[in-house]
Amino acid sequence: MPQSVRVATVGEIPPGTGKEVVAGDAIVAVFNCDGQFHALDGICPHSGGPLAEGQLTGCTVTCPWHGWQFDVRTGVNCLNPRMQHTNYPVRVDGTDIIVELP
Ligand code: FES
Repeated sequence: MPQSVRVATVGEIPPGTGKEVVAGDAIVAVFNCDGQFHALDGICPHSGGPLAEGQLTGCTVTCPWHGWQFDVRTGVNCLNPRMQHTNYPVRVDGTDIIVELP
């Protein structure tokens, strides 16, 4: 059943940064890409690295462990467009960032 989870406030994730949060049963990486918030499964599909701790350049996050890169807006791997990492809808309600879990 879909679930809306408040994960942070807008001020907690400045532009160009990410934050790892636990939402329901998921570990979620929430990113602020030029003022727009996006959420991916926080566990890198390569070998479990913490995507929220990766460098965010524009809307591309680089996994801190081995450098895989993902577009945080879509979850698509930058080198292999057929690889789609799980992403979650995000909305802002006032100052709250809400992630929609399936
Ligand atoms: S764990 Fe992310 S690139 Fe290897």
